[in-house]
Amino acid sequence: MTILVTGGSGFIGSNFIRNVLLLGNVSIVNIDKLTYAGNSENLSDVEGSRSYTFVKGDIGDSGLINELLIKHKPRAVINFAAESHVDRSIASPEDFIATNVVGLFRLLNASKDYWSDLGQKDKDVFRFLQVSTDEVYGSLDSLDPAFSETNRFEPNSPYSASKAAADHLVRAYHHTYGLPTLTTNCSNNYGPFQFPEKLIPLMILNALDGKGLPVYGDGQQIRDWLYVTDHCDAILSVLNKGLIGETYNIGGESEMTNLDVVRKICDVLDELRPSSSGESYEHLIEYVTDRPGHDRRYAVDITKVKKELGWAPRQSFGSGIKKTIQWYLDNQEWIDRVRSGAYREWVAKQYG
Ligand code: NAD
Ligand code: DAU
Repeated sequence: MTILVTGGSGFIGSNFIRNVLLLGNVSIVNIDKLTYAGNSENLSDVEGSRSYTFVKGDIGDSGLINELLIKHKPRAVINFAAESHVDRSIASPEDFIATNVVGLFRLLNASKDYWSDLGQKDKDVFRFLQVSTDEVYGSLDSLDPAFSETNRFEPNSPYSASKAAADHLVRAYHHTYGLPTLTTNCSNNYGPFQFPEKLIPLMILNALDGKGLPVYGDGQQIRDWLYVTDHCDAILSVLNKGLIGETYNIGGESEMTNLDVVRKICDVLDELRPSSSGESYEHLIEYVTDRPGHDRRYAVDITKVKKELGWAPRQSFGSGIKKTIQWYLDNQEWIDRVRSGAYREWVAKQYG
């Protein structure tokens, strides 16, 4: 069985590919544009595998996608490719529309054409799985129930609006053409190989460098954290057992304020790598200007995926964050390489 994975050199995609290849019996073709967030080193350990093929390219390149589909005859397409950072979508939204909306549309359309030409048996097993986000549902107040699959879409940032547009297109391609689609809407991920522009790796690396820990606004915004390999397992469950045309919410049942997340990171670092001064890393916390339009709270109701597919997260935030911090402590070389000129430019622009 072959799966065409897009955006597999990023954070979640690379964890997914590694996990799937460990299972055996599956070949992966990974097409990735290698933007600033993509890094082929994330998969250097599987590069030599006969079950892994890498192609540098854009999901919006219909010609290339057609070629890959015809050549590799995948049983599934899993779309991880996206511009994924909310702050960048606020600073420069255009790339988000190009990849998350137009690119997704072209990938979806090429997949529909490929699927239409398959024989009945192959048609029946083919799936197009769109990896999406809980942010399409907008923001919750503190007492609101968690997002369920029937919540209406109320995206608030250019990023979440582009992901919502993509989800609508996926839905329409199922409804109109019968393409066998699946969509997952997941909460905040963390774990190894996450690019250090996102909250958790940014805070770990800043703390280790003795730099300020920039908490936006009052730090009381809430996110629902999920360890990345739990997300990868959920995607596999949806791929193998999900009902065609359905959407599945995925989350960690682990709501925390940003300030508590940063404090927990400081606690774990105090234990694993105490600062040379003996002072807790917490003294580095500083409050900075809030993100414009900042969503206050996300929380995900995972009843459907638990009941129908038998998936549940395995890691608690406590166990997952320890593993994550240990991974960053053990992988200084990876850190040095990703903190290239482009990364430094972003940090200078965003944090001054
Ligand atoms: P990431 O930014 O780490 O990786 C994205 C990957 O896509 C990179 O390798 C990049 O090079 C590639 N890419 C970008 N544009 C492309 C294009 N036009 N063609 C081909 N490849 C392209 O993102 P991530 O955190 O791994 O997220 C993966 C997916 O999961 C995204 O669709 C994101 O919206 C979704 N998601 C992420 C989270 C999270 O917390 N990180 C949570 C829920 C959903
Ligand atoms: O909810 C799922 C989404 O989670 C994914 O769809 C996105 O791709 C992913 O990037 C993530 O979006 P967030 O905006 O929630 O993640 P980020 O790590 O950028 O920020 C998490 C929270 O921390 C958010 O409330 C903003 C805050 N924050 C972030 C940074 C980078 C800070 O307070 N300071 C910071 O420096």
